[in-house]
Amino acid sequence: MAYVIAEPCIDIKDKACVDECPVDCIYEGPRMLYIQPDECVDCDACVPVCPVTAIFSDEDLPGEWKQFAAVNAEWFSDAVTGLGSPGGAAQAGPQDKDHTVVAEWPAVA
Ligand code: F3S
Ligand code: F3S
Repeated sequence: MAYVIAEPCIDIKDKACVDECPVDCIYEGPRMLYIQPDECVDCDACVPVCPVTAIFSDEDLPGEWKQFAAVNAEWFSDAVTGLGSPGGAAQAGPQDKDHTVVAEWPAVA
């Protein structure tokens, strides 16, 4: 199990979650943030601080956002950022690519 950031984060990027994560596993893309599933320790600390309720455990993801479990995981793969499991978002810094699903997500008017 891991925690997953879903659609409500897109173009909001409040980042309150980043300060709560004890293992610094929430990484920044241009339109949203992504949780590294192998680094997440399932502590739940990030969930209550997100003002738009974007974070869920993967088993609790609402149906329309199920694809975001793969979106978070795949963002770290060679197909997108190639970050893998770098062990800390602060050191990795913001990345210049989103997952395709996120990049193509319609902007809220
Ligand atoms: Fe996004 Fe919520 Fe974190 S808007 S950056 S998941 S606090
Ligand atoms: Fe980090 Fe815990 Fe959330 S490890 S991503 S604060 S569930």
